[in-house]
Formats: sequence, structure tokens, C-alpha cells
Amino acid sequence: MAENFDVKLDAKTYIPDPSYLKNSALGDYKKAYEKFLSDPEGFWAEKAQELDWMKPWDTVRDWNWPNARWFCGGKINLSANCLDRHVKNGRRNKLAIIWKGERGKEEIYTYRQLYRAVMRFANALKKLGVQKGDRICLYMPLVPEHVIAMLACARIGAVHSIVYAGFGAEALHARIRDAEAKIVITADVGVRRGKFIPLRSIVDDAVKNSPSVEKIIVLSRERCPVELYSEMEVDYYAIQEGVSDECPPEEMDSEDPLFILYTSGTTGQPKGIVHTNGGYMVGAHYTCKYIFDMKENDVHWCTADPGWITGHSYIVYGPLSVGATVLITETTPDYPDPGIWWSLIEEFGVTIFYTAPTAIRMFMRIGEQWPDKYNLSSLRIIGSVGEPLNPEAFEWYYRVIGRNKCPVLDTWWQTETGMHMITTPLGEPMKPGFAGVPIPGVVADVVDKQGNPVPPRQGGLLVIKEPWPSMMRTVYKNEERYQQYWNQIKNWYTVGDLAVKDEDGYIMVLGRSDDIIIVSGHNLGTAEVESALVAHEAVAEAAVIGVPDDLKGQAVKAFVILRQGYEPSQKLVSELTYHVRMTIGPIAMPSGIEFMDKLPKTRSGKIMRRVLKAKEMGVDPGDISTLEE
Ligand code: PRX
Repeated sequence: MAENFDVKLDAKTYIPDPSYLKNSALGDYKKAYEKFLSDPEGFWAEKAQELDWMKPWDTVRDWNWPNARWFCGGKINLSANCLDRHVKNGRRNKLAIIWKGERGKEEIYTYRQLYRAVMRFANALKKLGVQKGDRICLYMPLVPEHVIAMLACARIGAVHSIVYAGFGAEALHARIRDAEAKIVITADVGVRRGKFIPLRSIVDDAVKNSPSVEKIIVLSRERCPVELYSEMEVDYYAIQEGVSDECPPEEMDSEDPLFILYTSGTTGQPKGIVHTNGGYMVGAHYTCKYIFDMKENDVHWCTADPGWITGHSYIVYGPLSVGATVLITETTPDYPDPGIWWSLIEEFGVTIFYTAPTAIRMFMRIGEQWPDKYNLSSLRIIGSVGEPLNPEAFEWYYRVIGRNKCPVLDTWWQTETGMHMITTPLGEPMKPGFAGVPIPGVVADVVDKQGNPVPPRQGGLLVIKEPWPSMMRTVYKNEERYQQYWNQIKNWYTVGDLAVKDEDGYIMVLGRSDDIIIVSGHNLGTAEVESALVAHEAVAEAAVIGVPDDLKGQAVKAFVILRQGYEPSQKLVSELTYHVRMTIGPIAMPSGIEFMDKLPKTRSGKIMRRVLKAKEMGVDPGDISTLEE
């Protein structure tokens, strides 16, 4: 394990404006953390009580390593917590969603309008035969109907599995098959950089050899009736004709699954992370209210897509459970020009802005003149997620976007954790490069492979030592894979990241310890990209690594051995790059492909990506005693 880090552990500390603590929901972090430690179950019960339960729980936590159940016996419905309780409690005419499309189109939904739209669509799903527990795959652009579809699934107890609409047909197919989805919901097109992406035809390819799929619901972006291509397809609006406007929320057991979300694994097969109703709802609501300090008059803009966990927790379930107004947009950060995001913040008075380091670095490169053109004074909190926020990017974000005033919340968490785990809570000094400290409710540490604590400033593995409500419950149809998270170091959850702690307990996350590459904040398994390459007729073997990239954090570099009869050529490089793009999607496209005669392997035949990486970076590969030659 690496022990010397070329990182700025002594970066300048930023002291937040004390006014931020005045009305903060969390209050003093240290006191809140001590309160949690003194009675963890009491702490979580108090947070859970802020939500509407149809039946109270009997037991807060049932921890039977490595499986946890939370709020056992409790009954809850997430869509009721995000909609009904606001409609009943004086927020019915308050804005829930503001949508701005790439081509300037705008739509708004009050809580009441959203509530009714969700109930109608939920009834349409029921009409199609959807029952509690059925899996529904969403492959949709970022339009209000995406949020409506999620909440409608939650309302009737169907389990949604959202696939980011930037994935290609094969990646979508693998996820539909694994989840055995009964319905796929899509739209005619997505819009990106002024171009239409034919989502519906990608779905048509993806559902071939997917026997579980009974219907494809197609949303027409222009709201005109859709011409149906097959008996499987139905029109998003036509199926809602004649359905009732009332759809009472299903009583969901706290431990019933809410959604499956696929994340890249270290094998070629993506992992279906399973989250449940009660614990997940508590985690998403708690972190929005106490970590983002979100209030009902906040206008929250999270630039992620619902296809990622960030979108699930911080576009939909968390902010709507708090009763905030959520801005959703289909925009790309630099289209039609790099001022677009800042103009939206000014136009809609965004108060909490949550984005990814890759976007921040891109804006840094383009220059301050773009954000400087706009009035960003509505912002009060700015956040970051997905990969380490390097000190230079922190400083730029704080100064140029936060105008030396807004606290920067660099939030560390994962698809598996469901909610923020480590950050610098409001009021605490901020140290650029460090995500921060475990939030109240989370017990985290940095340890060696045996689980011994490592001294400050020495690298180690990041672990979570106690279960938390929004932890994943299993990996879909792969409980063994789930258990690996908890038995790598007995009793603790090993997150798969390398980290280092300073004397004050601040944690800096350095990156993955396994074969995951993070490109622009998106997780890619090396094996997933490798198997896409090997599927090409010219490729005998492939190995991919992540290489540093100023903009994306990491980029994919591929090493390829060709089959006999194929010769290296620029044309083949382009062909393979295109092949990966079509198989997995644009994020997985290699930025470089090198042709090799041999790949470094262990005696047992495992590719040593570490050796390729060391060679690429011109550093010592470390221990190569297991190398075959
Ligand atoms: O390596 C860490 C990195 O992203 C991984 C989780 O990826 P995913 O499940 O796709 O979820 C991303 C959005 C929550 C982590 O294991 N990561 C996430 N946030 C940070 C981070 N690395 C450093 N700092 C962060 N703030």
C-alpha cells in the first residue's frame, strides 16, 4: 500500500463565515457527533421520526453482520413523503420542479401538480399489470416525466432500475436482463448539444433477447401521439387516458426494495445495488436537511442525472422530501456557451448548487470571464461529488463561484452508501483536498489491510465501522458479492478507496484501490471496457488502466493484443474507439490505444494493470515478484 503521498496535506485552511451556523439544522458539528455516538439508535430514530410513517417501526436496527435491517416493522411510502405530506401541509402551490430544456423550453410543476401527475402515471402502470416488486427499467432523458416515473414506481411499490441514457444498447441490455425488467420506460429522443439521441431505437436493440420485458412505454418529447413500431410499445400519454387521478400510496415495508442501481464492478458484470424504502428515505432526507442544510425556500440544483445515485438522492428523494424547489435541466455545461450554467443560477436564483470536480476543472480552464458575467449572489452553499476535489479546483470554486463566502461541501459517498458519508459540515474549517470528517451517523476510519488504524498522514483503506440506514442491502442476485464488502476486513465495510487522515481527523480520499476508473465522476470497471474491446473481432486480449487527465480526472487508456491477421493501424484505433463508444457509451471511450505483443501477467494469469500504469506514468511499479516474466 502506498505510504508517501504527493499531496498537499498542509493546504491553507478556510474558516467559514460564522453566520452559516445561525439557522443551520445541524448546529455545532462536534456536539451533534457526540450526541450520535452516545446513542446511535436514538439518533437515527429521531431523524426517522421527521418523516411520515404509515406504521411506526418496532426496532430501529437489527444488525446481524453482514446484514442490517432498519426501522423493522415500519411501513412507509417515499412518494407520499415527497408529495402527499407537502400537499396536505400547506405547500401544495409551492414549486417542486423547474425544468429547463436545452432548447430554451421551460416547465414547472407545483407539489400539487407533481402529485397528480405521479398518481395518474402510477395508475397507468397498474393498468399495464405492474405489481409491487416488479422491476421497471427507466432509460430516459432529464425531463420532468423522468422524476414522475420514479415517484410513480415508488408509489405502487415497483422497483425502479434507472440506466443512464448515455449508456449504449449492450450496457442497457445487460442491466435489463439482470434485473428481469417487466417494463422499460423511454422517450423518443434525448437532446444533447443540440442533437437528438435516438433513445427509443437504442431500447429496441437492447430488449432483443430480454424475455422479461412485456412493454416499452415511449414518451413523446413534443407530446404528440407516438407512432408505435411494435406490439410491445405503448404511448406514455395514451396509457394515462381514462385512468383515475387518485392512487393511494402502497404501504411499503421499511425493508422492501425501493430500487436497484447498477454500478461498475471489478468483473465485467455490473453490480445491481439494492436500496430499501425506510432506511434509504431516512438517509436521503437526513443529509439534505442536516448536511446540505436544505430548507423549503431553497432552490436546489444538482447537475447530475437521475441515472446516477447522486440524482436519486439529491435531485429526487432528498430535496422533495424536504419540500424544496428542484431545478432540473438537460443542459451540458458548455453548450451553447460556457456561461449557460451560471446564467441558470442567476435566472432561477439557485441557492444550493451541487456539481462534480470534472465540471469545475473544465470551467477553470475556460476562464473566470464566464461566471463573472452573471450575478451568482443567490448561492449560499456549493457542493462537489464524484471524485477528489483537488485543492486548486477547491480554491477556484470557493473564490469564483462561491465569492469567498459559500461553504464548499466536498461530499464523499457511493452508490452503495445511498447518502453523504464524509464532508466538511457547515461551520467547520475547510481544508482544500480533504473531503472532511464523518457526518453524525457515520463511523469512518483509515486502516491497513489487517484493520489496524494507520497513523495520521499515512495512507490506508477507508472503512465504515458501523452500519447506517441507507446502506445497500444486497447486490441483486449476488449476496456473495455483497458480503465481500463486509468481510474484506471482518465486521467493517471496506469501501474500496485509498485515503489518508490528518491530525484533526480530516480525511482525504485519494482514489480507488481496485480496478475502477473514474472518468468525469462516472465509475467504469476496467473489466467492462476490456470485455467490450475483446468482443471486437480484431482483438485477442485487452487491458485498460486509468491515466490522469486534467479535465476528466482520469481517462481510459487501453493496451490491446491483436488477433492473427490484423495489423496495428490508425484506422483500427478509430474503429476500436467507436466500438467501445457504441457498446458502453461515450464515457468509456479510450483516449489512447496502444498495440502490444504481450501483456504483463501474474503467474496465475491475472493482468497486472499496476505494471502498465507504472510504465505509463514513468514510476517504479513496486513489487513485481508475481510477474510471469
Ligand atoms: O472513489 C470514490 C469516488 O466515487 C466512488 C463512488 O462512485 P459512485 O458509486 O459512482 O458514486 C458517486 C457519487 C456518490 C467512491 O468510492 N468519490 C465519490 N465522491 C468523492 C469520491 N472521491 C473523492 N472525493 C469525493 N468527494
